[in-house]
Amino acid sequence: MSRFRKAVLSAALLAVAGFAGAQTNSKYPGVGRAATQKEVAAWDIDVRPDFKGLPAGSGTVAKGQEVWEGKCAHCHGFFGESGEVFSPLVGGVTPEDIKTGHVANLKNTSYPGRTTMMKVATVSTLWDYINRAMPWTAPKSLSTEEVYAVTAFLLNLSGIVPDNYTLSDKNIADVRMPNRNGMTTKHAMWPGNEFDGVKKPDTQNTACMKDCAPEAKVASFLPDFARNAHGNLAEQNRPVGAQRGVDTTKPEGKDLNAERISQQSAAPKAAEPAAKAAAPKTDASGIDSKAAMALTSKYSCTACHGVDKKIVGPSFMDIAKKHAGKADYLAGKIKSGGVGVWGPIPMPAQTLSDAEARTIGAWLASGAGK
Ligand code: HEC
Ligand code: HEC
Repeated sequence: MSRFRKAVLSAALLAVAGFAGAQTNSKYPGVGRAATQKEVAAWDIDVRPDFKGLPAGSGTVAKGQEVWEGKCAHCHGFFGESGEVFSPLVGGVTPEDIKTGHVANLKNTSYPGRTTMMKVATVSTLWDYINRAMPWTAPKSLSTEEVYAVTAFLLNLSGIVPDNYTLSDKNIADVRMPNRNGMTTKHAMWPGNEFDGVKKPDTQNTACMKDCAPEAKVASFLPDFARNAHGNLAEQNRPVGAQRGVDTTKPEGKDLNAERISQQSAAPKAAEPAAKAAAPKTDASGIDSKAAMALTSKYSCTACHGVDKKIVGPSFMDIAKKHAGKADYLAGKIKSGGVGVWGPIPMPAQTLSDAEARTIGAWLASGAGK
């Protein structure tokens, strides 16, 4: 066979194989296709307590400090101590805990708070979580080395590994987590045999089939003064998925967020002229507040900026006041990030298009109105 014909033949075979690989589901013809190996690999990133799934690699505490200061500290604090955004990560563990594998402060009711390092029993979980979910605004953006390094840094902050430590797939099984003996499977979610053979489930429910109570009785409520204690939850929730925060700036029952969602999903009223629905959303000055606000939620700016509340960064109202009329400056700063205008916490550069940055910039420059 000529070389040319061989090449053509193998190309044809490859094409057939490729086609077969992307065949549709035979049970439901025409619906979907089998996932490719690469697609499966992109999802299959879990690292288990026996370290199955852990990619080979390593990272030093020193490198971890760089990663931490560049990508984590502005939310979690320089020493992982900050409770600004969520619970603090580091603190509350002692050298004695590292010896016993039980964190004494977990049983100490006068100890304020519970940190990640107090609770997490397996270092694989810490590694996996950082790898899949952090930084909050850019999950899965860390390299394998960065994940090892920043995990090593957190272990070092907790006194679990020394300053000159290099964490790697070779030595990670030797890491002694302070609460490693604190996890129990002695309840019936698991095989449950530890309970002298009593297999009582953790929770129980029997479906009611007749004479059912019409409604559940709510026995306790969040007091009004605590409702907005963490800032407006509606602005802090992810813009995707089933969970939406209620608008905690309004009294209970006046949930504007819910109103907005129901308005969006309601079919346009027949009486409403179509032209009105399609009318341009921009006002006379060309500011599209709706689009700008949607973008701040799409890009999770609202994780750090409340409309009228400082979170990690200044409120949009305060920014609007300080930089009134400076749309170009603001659009530029959104893309470049920066530090020092409002304090020592840096804002990371944001990844969005120039047009999107300009939409937000113009909205801020005009007063950040609704
Ligand atoms: C924009 C703010 C932000 C940044 C930046 C950030 N985090 Fe987080 N982090 C959070 C929030 C918010 C949570 C809680 C998330 C949740 O429960 O869904 C969290 C949770 C965590 C947790 C788990 C805490 C627990 O006990 O459940 C770890 C560990 C963590 N972050 C590590 C990191 C590391 C390492 C980096 C840097 C590579 C980082 N974070 C960057 C906001 C941030
Ligand atoms: C991780 C937290 C964080 C996120 C996410 C974030 N910011 Fe910021 N932002 C800050 C901090 C902190 C500052 C204050 C920086 C300073 O002092 O210079 C700031 C400042 C700003 C400023 C004012 C700049 C100046 O020079 O006064 C604007 C405008 C801004 N952010 C817009 C945005 C927009 C738009 C987004 C989303 C695309 C966004 N930010 C996402 C933390 C954040």
